[in-house]
Amino acid sequence: MIVCVCKRVSDRQLRALARDGVTSVCEMQLETGCGTCCGKCLPMVREIADEAQQREMAGFGMGMLAA
Ligand code: FES
Repeated sequence: MIVCVCKRVSDRQLRALARDGVTSVCEMQLETGCGTCCGKCLPMVREIADEAQQREMAGFGMGMLAA
């Protein structure tokens, strides 16, 4: 699904970036240009970034338990 109509950025692109460690809205904007025109997509971009950060933190927590 297209998240950012202005820059034609899909949720798949953003989730792929998130898997590669791009987990903040600012980084996603720098990588794709999403949210840099009208800004209507920013809530969805923020949601994807938040999910990625939560996954990252959960993974970090699991790593801490295993150490
Ligand atoms: S829809 Fe993303 S900047 Fe307009």
